[in-house]
Amino acid sequence: MSEHSIDTIALHAGYQPGNSEPRALPIYQSTTYHYSSVDEVAGLFDLSVEGHMYSRISNPTCAFVEDKIAAMEGGVGALLTSSGQAATLVSVLNLCSAGDHLVSSATIYGGTVNLLAVTLKRFGIETTFVSPRATVEEIRAAVKPNTKLVFGETVANPALAVLDIETFATAAHAEGLPLIIDNTFPTPVLCRPFEWGADIIVHSTTKYMDGHAMFVGGVVVDSGNFDWSAHADKFPGLTEPDESYHGVTYTRDFGNAAFITKARVQLIRDLGVYPPAVQAFALNQSLESLAVRVARHAENAQRVAEWLEGQDKIASVNYPGLASSPDHDLAQKYLPKGVCGVISFVVDGGRDRAAKLLDSLKLASIEVHVADSRTCVLHPASSTHRQLTDEQLVACGVEPGLVRFSCGLEDADDIIADLEQALAQI
Ligand SMILES: Cc1ncc(COP(=O)(O)O)c(C=O)c1O
Repeated sequence: MSEHSIDTIALHAGYQPGNSEPRALPIYQSTTYHYSSVDEVAGLFDLSVEGHMYSRISNPTCAFVEDKIAAMEGGVGALLTSSGQAATLVSVLNLCSAGDHLVSSATIYGGTVNLLAVTLKRFGIETTFVSPRATVEEIRAAVKPNTKLVFGETVANPALAVLDIETFATAAHAEGLPLIIDNTFPTPVLCRPFEWGADIIVHSTTKYMDGHAMFVGGVVVDSGNFDWSAHADKFPGLTEPDESYHGVTYTRDFGNAAFITKARVQLIRDLGVYPPAVQAFALNQSLESLAVRVARHAENAQRVAEWLEGQDKIASVNYPGLASSPDHDLAQKYLPKGVCGVISFVVDGGRDRAAKLLDSLKLASIEVHVADSRTCVLHPASSTHRQLTDEQLVACGVEPGLVRFSCGLEDADDIIADLEQALAQI
């Protein structure tokens, strides 16, 4: 499958029916599986034979979708999770225990900041945040003896900062650490971080991969490239026997699929954050059109951003596809086919005028969401950040007049016409 383009992989990887089998991916709606002998079950529990045990750990419908996403990202394996947050949690816990540390780009999704800086800290895992523009030396300087990984987001939600993936990978690898990248916004259609040195990828599939505002979900993808055994002292969970599976050693027994196998059989087993088959079925349906949809989202965002830049009631537009963006150079390098469908802009006149603009939009709907097929919009100062004063908003990089605008799949002319009539009313 890997010799095909991403458009083709998205349609054909994963489920491939045999003679007379259903053309569409079947939904295996079963919590449990049948075995003809005790020995067969024993083999599953020893991880010595492949197969499904229980749908908290794996399921045939989910497995086909995991194979598809692994192929799309160019990895050796993938693991679906019940949310994007769960994907990040599982990927971090697969390497870190209490007393460990990680280095992360500071410009990442706010929920991930909270997970790392607040919740995981309560469990004894500490994070040092560095600028997404940090140099190799600056990133390496943040690494400590107990650091287990480096984390970043290809295009940050909502700041839209583009990560210099190669710089972060170079620094991580120089310290014997893997780089985990959240690739939610570009999806593998617009950027494939493994090609730039990332080792593990996570996604909130809730966004473009689903794309129709239907299911919250996530996925972890393993490149199979990181040599855990070369840094065995740092990753004993992968390189030493797991007593919960009679002494299985993931690197010895599963080779370059060690990371993703451990994540499934140990963490997904214990945390219980696996999605149901019907959700994987819906995700598969959405993935089939991902390449077509994401290209259109990015094209629409580019047009809307360019149009907004020419409007005198708009103080500034933030979109890395614009030549005026400080991240335009990185966007050209990592995202030559387009950035994503999300842009942000600041309405001249602040909080009240921005709120009036949103209330005047007819096509774009106000939602606490991005990456939907339908254009959606949010005014952070009145919603996600409403407890903050104007001064506090500016201090955390959210102008009172900031609008987050997620361009859908409508005709760009219609999206622009909607903005035009709304701007005329403020
Ligand atoms: C970039 C990014 N990563 C992770 C998440 C968390 O994903 P979920 O909401 O599916 O748990 C989000 C959610 O908005 C996101 O935008």
